[in-house]
Amino acid sequence: MAVAVAGAGRTAGNAKTTNRRINLLRYIIIIRISPVSVEDSSVVVCLCNAIREKDLRDTVRNGGGHNTCSAYAALGRRTRCGQCIPFAQSIIKSELATA
Ligand code: FES
Repeated sequence: MAVAVAGAGRTAGNAKTTNRRINLLRYIIIIRISPVSVEDSSVVVCLCNAIREKDLRDTVRNGGGHNTCSAYAALGRRTRCGQCIPFAQSIIKSELATA
């Protein structure tokens, strides 16, 4: 039996948005419950590109970028879903402030 659902054409888009939100929640949970220091190299900033916080900080310290795009480019990567950008920007900002 077929059932027509209003807005069913948006299902794929909604699923993609839901997956992004789930990935972001995973990331937030990992950051919140991880008993690691800020300088610990195991903290992942960007899930899509597997960029670790230490790598991002080192890149900025070495003049590899002053914003997310340039820092990711210096690491040979580019932004994809964009979920990491606010966190990456805060890391870059803190590194530039201490430089
Ligand atoms: S987490 Fe998707 S681009 Fe960084």
